Amino acid sequence: MLLPRLEVRVTRTWYEWLSGFDRDARVVCMNHGYAALDDEAAGLKLAPEDEDNRYQLQLYDHVAGAIDWIGADAVEVSLGRGGGAAYIVRRYRPRSLVGVDVTARAVTFCRRQYALPGLRFTRGEAECLPFAGGSFDVVLNIEASVYYRAEQRFLGEVMRVLKPDGFFLCADMRRYEEIDAWRAGLAKTGFRLVSEEDITASVVRALALDAERRRRLIEEYVPRVLRPAYRAFAGSKGAGLARGSPSTGERVYLSFVLRRPRDAPGAGCSGGGDVADSTAGRLRWDEATPGPCAS
Ligand SMILES: C[S@@+](CC[C@H](N)C(=O)[O-])C[C@H]1O[C@@H](n2cnc3c(N)ncnc32)[C@H](O)[C@@H]1O
Repeated sequence: MLLPRLEVRVTRTWYEWLSGFDRDARVVCMNHGYAALDDEAAGLKLAPEDEDNRYQLQLYDHVAGAIDWIGADAVEVSLGRGGGAAYIVRRYRPRSLVGVDVTARAVTFCRRQYALPGLRFTRGEAECLPFAGGSFDVVLNIEASVYYRAEQRFLGEVMRVLKPDGFFLCADMRRYEEIDAWRAGLAKTGFRLVSEEDITASVVRALALDAERRRRLIEEYVPRVLRPAYRAFAGSKGAGLARGSPSTGERVYLSFVLRRPRDAPGAGCSGGGDVADSTAGRLRWDEATPGPCAS
């Protein structure tokens, strides 16, 4: 999907502002969140300092938990304020994780906020990633590609920077009528689909459970004149996400696990790596996993 130039500018200014408001570093994630639908499901075990961003980190965990990260070199494209990247480094222990974002203030914030071995940050555009080909075992992208001016170019960049058999993990929303084009773009780029899940209901549930915290944050930090716009942007009213049957204008939230095939054109690296034994039930990035081909 291509956003008109003006909208791209507005979105970027928006994120620069957003990064400026939160003086106390209470907002370290900026996605809509994820809450299991099963009331009996055990909540994610979090450090006390992560509780404020529980639902947002649950979205990260939902996406990241599909694979074994131990020993992997990873990049998060559009990491925002870095809470998700820091969580992944602590919880899933990749060898390295570099976070990229186009918003200068977000990158400055992350550099100040986090000091974890293997975690670093750089400013860059999703459509033109500042890395050599075949650099990463994992590319992570959470609720960001919907804002890119050239999504197909971004997908090409993901393919380029991944090692053969590397994983592309992403979660994002699109309007119903955009879903087929989204899937087609992934397939056209050459990714192999490992899994796809519609998580709209879990995202809507998280928005409802988190509504009061979001309301308080906006009251506390955002100038009065901008509050209505921020409320809508922060998903306070459900963010236009679908609640019932598909209807025009509503959005669906999907999460994907994709892989770069070993023999994809331009695969520059031999792939694989020096990793410990697999964590039970998780896919390893140094094994070829048979999966349905994205057609
Ligand atoms: C909704 S926030 C999500 C941030 C983070 N993934 C999270 O879940 O907290 C979207 C992020 O995408 C970034 N972004 C938007 N367009 C971008 C681009 N073309 N290249 C890199 N980052 C971009 C914004 O600066 C913002 O940090």
